[in-house]
Amino acid sequence: MGLTFQNRGLTIAETDYSYLDEGAYAVIFADKAVGRIVKVFKRRLKEAHVRSVFRAEIDAYDLAASSTEISDLIPGNFQIASPRNILDSHGANITDEFFPDLAFQTDFVEGYFHKIGVIGGAEASRIRQLFRRAGICHTSDMSVTIGPEGCIRKAIDFATVEYELTHDE
Ligand SMILES: Nc1ncnc2c1ncn2[C@@H]1O[C@H](COP(=O)(O)OP(=O)(O)O)[C@@H](O)[C@H]1O
Ligand SMILES: [Mg+2]
Repeated sequence: MGLTFQNRGLTIAETDYSYLDEGAYAVIFADKAVGRIVKVFKRRLKEAHVRSVFRAEIDAYDLAASSTEISDLIPGNFQIASPRNILDSHGANITDEFFPDLAFQTDFVEGYFHKIGVIGGAEASRIRQLFRRAGICHTSDMSVTIGPEGCIRKAIDFATVEYELTHDE
């Protein structure tokens, strides 16, 4: 997938969002003062593939938000974000390295995110089954925060279905 941005002081133009973290598909920008994040997908793979992944994630947010069983397990106040420019630490416009129209916002979640595969066990299975029942079948890349009692509090990075990468992507 190539090098990551490794922070580089990225910001979203004309906002108070700055680089928080990064995964395989996207950079997460946060405005901690207002308690919100924006997930902007990177232009690293074929557009059709990334668009499918984005669609599967936003469909999953819609399903989760309307499920009484799992709506509390996801970051609140999901919404599609309007496209904006991305700047590096020198203020240079690097929007070309992203698909700026593939972006969504949610509330910022405090705490450390663990990969669900590392957690494992009955609690991970319980949560993945709840998501599956809501129609969210791709949960193997999920990250979760854990409460003091050992229960999963919040889950991110889930999708209705998994889009496998083919060799030419
Ligand atoms: N709502 C959030 N609140 C706080 N941190 C977040 C939130 N969403 C993502 N992150 C951070 O950003 C990282 C990457 O997000 P993720 O959705 O897994 O991206 P990708 O789909 O590229 O793997 C997470 O592991 C987590 O540390
Ligand atoms: Mg991830």
